[in-house]
Amino acid sequence: MTDNYAVFGNPIAQSKSPVIHRQFCDQTGEDMSYTKQLVAEGEFKQAADEFFRAGGRGLNITAPFKLDAYAYANALTPRAKRAKAVNLLIKEADGSVTGDNSDGIGMVNDMLNLGWDIQDKHVLLLGAGGAVRGVLQPLLNQNPAQVTIANRTVEKAEELAQDFHDLGSIDGCGFEALAGKKYDLIINGTSAGLHGSLPTLPDQLCRSGAACYDMTYAAEPTLFMQWAEQQGADKLSDGLGMLVGQAAESFYAWRHIRPEVVPVITDLRRKMKESKKKAS
Ligand code: ATR
Repeated sequence: MTDNYAVFGNPIAQSKSPVIHRQFCDQTGEDMSYTKQLVAEGEFKQAADEFFRAGGRGLNITAPFKLDAYAYANALTPRAKRAKAVNLLIKEADGSVTGDNSDGIGMVNDMLNLGWDIQDKHVLLLGAGGAVRGVLQPLLNQNPAQVTIANRTVEKAEELAQDFHDLGSIDGCGFEALAGKKYDLIINGTSAGLHGSLPTLPDQLCRSGAACYDMTYAAEPTLFMQWAEQQGADKLSDGLGMLVGQAAESFYAWRHIRPEVVPVITDLRRKMKESKKKAS
């Protein structure tokens, strides 16, 4: 029997998750359907109840419902507890629903697939919202030498660092305080790019060989990647591989089979470039 999965969000039309999971199914031969569902704000619980009552086996959750999903789950994995957000719900054999967060491991696995080192590196995370909170535990699990969180609102960076200080060496500050410091890995987790802007950063933050990663993605290099290139970063990536990585972790949590991510990333990248070309 075909098992049913879906992604809930609002908006949802732009979601690539059904295409990604279709490719994972083709690779693995798993018998499952995966649809996208537009959920009205304030109606997450009702929609999730209906989905699971109808036999649904698992959900991915995207904006703006990751906190609703966190509240909805009967139990949480340690990484979801730390993230204080859930992007993955799993219906267990006993009927209960477990909440997990695969965003951070998706990002870390993408960096490792790209051949980037995290262990013993000095890492700078820009932003202190939900996206950054979601990646901190998997990132610290890689044993970086130091993680600095820099944010426009300084107190949020300091609070976040405090929340994770038991997992590694981590501090929080504002952007101006970065002047004169250097990093091996700089990750943009702000939503500034979505509004066509960039955090105001001092120059010369990149160490020789530095890697810069944007958690958002686009057909063209993002504003942050353009900044990183001007700053002489050695390696650049957007977050398309993070999207596919979190999907792969979801697939694994549901089906206990690990799909190949690289061919899916390559295919999505090609399709994004093609549709951009057609549009211009
Ligand atoms: P998300 O879930 O995407 O992380 P969020 O929780 O609203 O969204 O967090 C957005 C992050 O982007 C915050 O760190 C925000 O900084 P503030 O905490 O100071 O608001 C950051 N951000 C958004 N626009 C920005 C901009 N133009 N420059 C710098 N930081 C920005």
